[in-house]
Amino acid sequence: MPVKPTLWISRKLSDNTLARAARDYEVILNAQDRVYSGDEIIAMSADVDAILPCHSELFSADVVARLSDRLKIIANHSVGVDHCDLGALGARGIVVTNTPDVLSDATAEIAMLLLLGAARRAAEGDQMVRSGAWTEWSPSFMVGTQVTGKRIGIVGMGRVGQVMARRARGFDMEVHYHNRSRLADELAHGAVYHDTVEGLLANCDVVSLHCPATPETTGLMNAQRLALLPAGAILVNTARGALVVEDDLLAAIETGRLGAAGIDCFMTEPGGNPKFAAHPNIFMLPHIGSATRETRDAMGFRALDNLDAFFAGREPGDKVA
Ligand code: DGY
Repeated sequence: MPVKPTLWISRKLSDNTLARAARDYEVILNAQDRVYSGDEIIAMSADVDAILPCHSELFSADVVARLSDRLKIIANHSVGVDHCDLGALGARGIVVTNTPDVLSDATAEIAMLLLLGAARRAAEGDQMVRSGAWTEWSPSFMVGTQVTGKRIGIVGMGRVGQVMARRARGFDMEVHYHNRSRLADELAHGAVYHDTVEGLLANCDVVSLHCPATPETTGLMNAQRLALLPAGAILVNTARGALVVEDDLLAAIETGRLGAAGIDCFMTEPGGNPKFAAHPNIFMLPHIGSATRETRDAMGFRALDNLDAFFAGREPGDKVA
């Protein structure tokens, strides 16, 4: 019987994923489900052929330089790979994969929840009822923004962005988008293409971010770009915290330039931005875009599919480096 490759699964994944992994690999688990430091990841790499990490494990150039030669593949349990220095990993010959497609529906659900929650003052309303502070009702009470029929601007019309566009059409929203390249008509479904982010922002009542965090997109939503949105617009971020300059977002909320925001991703995670908490019109969630039972299984299985292909001598379907 061939020797099973040794696999470190860096966080607590779904039971179905762990059961399948244990069937096919010699698995090392992280019983406490804690985040390992760079030094700990480096030490672990000497004992394993593969790592199945989440976006919480950082593979910076410095860490990558000190990984053991034994480690052959990092099969991420995430679509985002901004926690991995792909150039450094590629140069070391370590294969890297991600899990696209399988989390698009779940992430678009959370984007819709954030959009609706921000527009209709969900955090404020929930807090009021929960705390017993709901003591009166009036037609002028808790009036929010209706999203039906409004213009949504999608930054990054990849897989998640396209699902978000479909969901938004369910609310009769007019879809606009910016993407590195224009989509074919059969994928765009009539969405209006803008060849610059600036052009998009001037034409949307809601902007939803669905692009990866890269050196080019870091700080994308800064004061200058936020100022291009119509007054009272809503910003939704389910992509990465690095896309938004958080102090500029706060300033835009404080001046009313932004009417509300729905934020699932922060510069500091876990934890978020404590300054946001003073603003009930910032509706927040703790990076749970892909956190459904169905999607966690699908992500785990996709990562294992990539590992299986690699150890069978085939090119993994989701190789990014
Ligand atoms: C992703 O897949 O990138 C999500 O943010 C969860 O890690």
